[in-house]
Amino acid sequence: MSLNKSMNRRSFLKTAAAFTASSVLPLNFVEVCWGKNKGEKFTFGVISDSHLTHIKGTKFVNNFDKGLEQAVAEVSLSFPEPDFIVFGGDLAQLGKKEELDHGLEMLSKIEVPIRYVIGEHDYYLDMGQYWQEKVSKLYYSFDHKGVHFVTLNSIRTYEKWIKRWPTPKERMLAMARLDNPQGSPFMVGKEQIEWLRKDLSKVSHDTPLIVFSHSPLYKVFKPWNFWTDDAEEIQAVLKPFKQVNVFHGHVHQVLYNQIGNISFQAWMSTAWPWPYPVSYDQKANMVPKQTVFMNRADPFHERDATGWSQITMEGGRGSQHFDLWENTSRTVRFDKKAGQAVDEQYQAPGKRIPPQTHY
Ligand SMILES: [Fe+2]
Ligand SMILES: [Fe+2]
Repeated sequence: MSLNKSMNRRSFLKTAAAFTASSVLPLNFVEVCWGKNKGEKFTFGVISDSHLTHIKGTKFVNNFDKGLEQAVAEVSLSFPEPDFIVFGGDLAQLGKKEELDHGLEMLSKIEVPIRYVIGEHDYYLDMGQYWQEKVSKLYYSFDHKGVHFVTLNSIRTYEKWIKRWPTPKERMLAMARLDNPQGSPFMVGKEQIEWLRKDLSKVSHDTPLIVFSHSPLYKVFKPWNFWTDDAEEIQAVLKPFKQVNVFHGHVHQVLYNQIGNISFQAWMSTAWPWPYPVSYDQKANMVPKQTVFMNRADPFHERDATGWSQITMEGGRGSQHFDLWENTSRTVRFDKKAGQAVDEQYQAPGKRIPPQTHY
């Protein structure tokens, strides 16, 4: 399968050129051309992990505001207009009403419908209450042009952990930390898995299925919660389908995986990058073998690992092209022979440029 050049790549690049050279383009576009309505291509856009951070009064951390503002501007300049936008979670930094309201105000400039995924930074202050009042349901499904879409709340955790904190603020701060030894793993939970099973029982197994979650629905690195504890149970529910694509936020880096019939791909963040666990912590981790690390993912370089990605899904397998901030562009496409996604340029171990180390 080749990257579909007709995906108005030129249009998107023209859009890109509308920004100055110092701009980052923190937006992901997905073109779907798959399944029953194969002739009918459509595009959706994704904005993820904006982490808007309230200081006081009407003051917010400017840098994160700018990331989201640019993504919103990019949507209105894009042609063709995407059918809808997905927000991939972590709109807020500490789940505050001020942060969520500020984000919604910025996103209200988008004229196409927005589908929301909740992130842990939106959730753990009031356990998703304000989000459900003002933003969206926590999990739901919808159909669009022959594709069945499912949105999951993958950042739930154990009741015991939720109850151990004396105040909601302490609970939120604990979950917001990347390397918190007192953290607790994410999960989807039994009730939602049951809902998913029921929802999918009405869908034929050859229907294109796209799942959105915040955390990856597989296990990468537990100490940082790049992890969903009941991932295997969800994968089992998805197994009967011919082909499934799971897209997620949360990891703020280039990350992809293939488990049986399920392809996993991460969205880019509009806020900051995370390094790969092995380059930072040197602890055992399960970054998928097929993922070729970005040649640099440096949390001290504020825009690294944020960027622009274009995914073309012809026949249900995503080819993803990344234009990264002051970093080499990358194309990762599904290789039928290898049965997995392959980095066009850097797959051979000898060609790889190692990511920065931080220890
Ligand atoms: Fe995030
Ligand atoms: Fe997150």
